[in-house]
Amino acid sequence: MKKIIFSVSALFCLVIMYSCQSDDNIQIQEQIPQLPETAFKYSDFTFPAHFPEALVLQLEGGVHSGLVDDDVATLGRVLFYDKQLSLNNTISCGSCHKQTFAFADPVAGSVGFQGAVTPRNAMAIVNPILNNNFFWDSRVRSAEDLALEPVQNHIEMGMESLDKLAMKLERTSYYGDLFEQAFGTRAIHPEGLSTALAQFMRSMVSYESKFDKGMENDFADFTPLELAGKQLFFSEKAQCSSCHANGNFAAPDGAFFVTNIDTFSGDVIDPNDPFINDFPGGGNPYAQPQSRGTANIGLDVIYEDKGRSRGKFKIPSLRNIALTGPYMHDGRFGTLEEVVDHYSDNIQPHTDLDTKFRAPGGGVAQMGFTELEKRSLVAFMETLTDANFIKDEKFSDPFEN
Ligand code: HEC
Ligand code: HEC
Repeated sequence: MKKIIFSVSALFCLVIMYSCQSDDNIQIQEQIPQLPETAFKYSDFTFPAHFPEALVLQLEGGVHSGLVDDDVATLGRVLFYDKQLSLNNTISCGSCHKQTFAFADPVAGSVGFQGAVTPRNAMAIVNPILNNNFFWDSRVRSAEDLALEPVQNHIEMGMESLDKLAMKLERTSYYGDLFEQAFGTRAIHPEGLSTALAQFMRSMVSYESKFDKGMENDFADFTPLELAGKQLFFSEKAQCSSCHANGNFAAPDGAFFVTNIDTFSGDVIDPNDPFINDFPGGGNPYAQPQSRGTANIGLDVIYEDKGRSRGKFKIPSLRNIALTGPYMHDGRFGTLEEVVDHYSDNIQPHTDLDTKFRAPGGGVAQMGFTELEKRSLVAFMETLTDANFIKDEKFSDPFEN
């Protein structure tokens, strides 16, 4: 009998040891973030008037209300750059979203926590506060929902669960204080982590480019080439601005929250819409799934990565675009010249090709730009760079000092 008790308790010990051990798998590698004595003013921004009213409305009444609190965003900044958010303490959000490149990564695929490479190009982060369609397939609607996806992604950061992450961060010396400042409690919880990351991202506003200045001084500083590019970009011929629209040069659908209509496609938005990848059966009622600000621009005849469906990808903002190459969802184009060549001469036929690129008979309407027109479009896109945004200390890595 004694023997049995012994072995039962030995088994019990084993179980305990196992769970202690798996706890102990949590390895901290502590480095203390350097933060300013008074928090940076993350909440202090006003978009200029040329950001359309609909977008500004979104700030005031929409999914982003509640906006940004300086202490919460400070916590978000630390989280964004903390490699402890990855399983083996090697990767932070900032490893793939680099400030010098307007929070994009200058490679087609980014390297994750175990050296595997992401199949899609890391996206720039710019004005997510004016945005409600995140990722190349627009699968996520809010910055909160987005924030913790990469942490659990098996290529990107690899944490098993958010509870485990909270447990891990609890063991550091600085998150208790940061949580207290932000939320009035030292307890670290996943919801606080996503709120803080989302608020930090929402504070990442960019509206001080040469173009923005031009909107105030009638483009007095623009060169003739930039002026020509601007005219072409907004023209019926090139139609760039019909997709890269509004003050944010992004999907016009940015203003969707005001109604339940996707302003880009005109589709009714079902908030519970499960992500629709593809419906091969042509008669399917979802044959035209909600676009959520996505379009097929004829990159391929056959898409291996179908995006939102059938080669439809998010219409990204072109702000800071000169800094964020390589381009497109898979980073296939190294330069803006190559992108313009695509629109000019290389659009591929596809059943879901956006109507803007179709000839009256149904074929592809290549835009056929002249060399000068191509150069002017590139020159115009280069005016969308905001030099302050990429230097602003409040968005910088607090672990780097
Ligand atoms: C290993 C590289 C990598 C890491 C680490 C990473 N990302 Fe990303 N990020 C990407 C890639 C790749 C995409 C595009 C993914 C897709 O479309 O499916 C992306 C997309 C995004 C977007 C969408 C932008 C838009 O306009 O739609 C945001 C925001 C973002 N990441 C924030 C974060 C945050 C916050 C973290 C840290 C918690 C993080 N990322 C960690 C590579 C990374
Ligand atoms: C029908 C809508 C539409 C039109 C019109 C359009 N685009 Fe795009 N654009 C997109 C989409 C969608 C993507 C992303 C496609 C992908 O990654 O597969 C994109 C991507 C880009 C990119 C790369 C962005 C990045 O972050 O990698 C640039 C640059 C660009 N477009 C410039 C232009 C220019 C210049 C014009 C006018 C000649 C134009 N676009 C016309 C929808 C459009």
